[in-house]
Amino acid sequence: MKQLVLLFFIGLLAIQCTKTNQKKEPVTGTVAENAMVVSARKEASNIGIEILKKGGNAFDAMIATELSLAVAYPFAGNIGGGGFMVFRTNNGETGALDYREKAPLAASKNMYLDEQDNIIPGKSTLGAMAIGVPGTIDGLFKVHEKFGSLPFSELIQPAIDLAYKGVAVTKKQENRLNKYRHYFLEVNKSPIIFDKHWKENDTIKYLALAKTLERIRDNGRDGFYKGETAEQLVKTVKILGGIITKEDLEKYKAIWRKPIEFTYKNLKIIAMSPPSSGGVCSAQIFKALEPFNIASLGHNSLKAIQLITEAERRAYADRSFYLGDPDFVKIPIDTLISTTYVSKRMANFSWEKATSSKDINHGNIIGYESDETTHYSIIDQFGNAISATTTLNGAYGSKVFVTEGGFLLNNEMDDFSSKPGEPNMFGLIGAEANSIKPEKRMLSSMTPTIVEKDNKLFMSLGSPGGSTIITSVMQTILNVYEFNLSMQEAVNAPRFHHQWLPDVITLEPKGFAKDLVLQLQEKGYQINQENSRIIGKVDAIKVLENGKLEGGADYRGDDAAVGY
Ligand code: GLY
Repeated sequence: MKQLVLLFFIGLLAIQCTKTNQKKEPVTGTVAENAMVVSARKEASNIGIEILKKGGNAFDAMIATELSLAVAYPFAGNIGGGGFMVFRTNNGETGALDYREKAPLAASKNMYLDEQDNIIPGKSTLGAMAIGVPGTIDGLFKVHEKFGSLPFSELIQPAIDLAYKGVAVTKKQENRLNKYRHYFLEVNKSPIIFDKHWKENDTIKYLALAKTLERIRDNGRDGFYKGETAEQLVKTVKILGGIITKEDLEKYKAIWRKPIEFTYKNLKIIAMSPPSSGGVCSAQIFKALEPFNIASLGHNSLKAIQLITEAERRAYADRSFYLGDPDFVKIPIDTLISTTYVSKRMANFSWEKATSSKDINHGNIIGYESDETTHYSIIDQFGNAISATTTLNGAYGSKVFVTEGGFLLNNEMDDFSSKPGEPNMFGLIGAEANSIKPEKRMLSSMTPTIVEKDNKLFMSLGSPGGSTIITSVMQTILNVYEFNLSMQEAVNAPRFHHQWLPDVITLEPKGFAKDLVLQLQEKGYQINQENSRIIGKVDAIKVLENGKLEGGADYRGDDAAVGY
């Protein structure tokens, strides 16, 4: 009998060991010798990589990928929205492009308030009043002017061909279209392409969009900001009660900016500067973590979650108070991201008990963005890297569809704080620095990021996810650097998020054990897991020690890493 029991335990141990060994088997993403594109759709990643194979550089591939996403991923890919791009060339030069939307000239601080100064529900999110002046096309021409090596016509042509040929509907896309169809019907006066009950594997052809892209191919930026496309856009907006004019479109300009650059141990992190909060917040969080030996705490352990949460709480409190469009508000960036300032902010951190957000100064809370954005990363065969995040803001933006032009318009105006100091329609609050003014850019959380290790290119990454973008990107970097996960594992790992207010840690529904949740609650943390959704959708590339590239394409979407 004794022998039988012993055999049973040995058997059990063997099974456990096999399981543990299986778990430890690294999950590696697509690996490529020369170059890689990771984006939300394989069609766009393929088009980007084809440009690189033709001899184009990362900037050429960016233009082709971004335009292909406008066709293949209308949920967030766009020509009617905006975004940010951070780059690092093969000689170490870094920079950033801001092609964020702007408030129209006729915008005003209280445009979303009624006579009693109450926020009018839905006005900043749904329909024509929610639209900011789009920046994507001007941004792509700025990139081409500075870094393009192939003619723009060659870079846009694959997107035009894709629009004519059509794109297969994925299951996730079918679900999204079903979910949002009633908004399309509510907002648009005439039927639009997305009203139809599309099913998985149906092919949607985007013929009107193909014509718009041809006008851009043939007329440059004026193919969007002037002439037929501009007329179609302004007419649609006017019919639906919006305020964007031809002057708004003509005046739009993307801006080259200096990215936020900071060190974390032997990493240099290059991230987006305001009007995105991504770089400043990331710098504050990493600086708060730097004195600790995070690796020794364990991946997603109680202590790691506590520490990261407390760093996030303090950074997001500052975000809400200080950050906005740098062309309109003065931001003390150097102080905010300095080690001295951040360590003072962390001085009251305790392992014993959660800090209460009520006790964290800087008071007037945060602007909140919804989570329907898209990110792509590219490293080319010459060693240039770009990291770009682009958005319509909400799912399919304002739901306003320019039928003749075949494209959706953003609802980025909701990223402003409609009424400083009061909850917006997501139940969160913004501050004066992010109040609405004509031609001002709304605060963003988009965090396209490039990481150097020992002065060499190490990673290009970013994510959608509104305010969770910053924490998703930060955790992915930590997963690789501190916890030694492969790029794909780092992307796959379960994520959590805290943003000061509401004072709650959101955990992804899967991947956090019950007893860990209990331990966090014992320390005084409020947890949201049951009602939570996925957090972020990271697309990333890591340069391996042997010089090859490993992609991390997020399984949470239809994302794809393609390399050669
Ligand atoms: N609209 C999402 C963001 O800019 O953060």
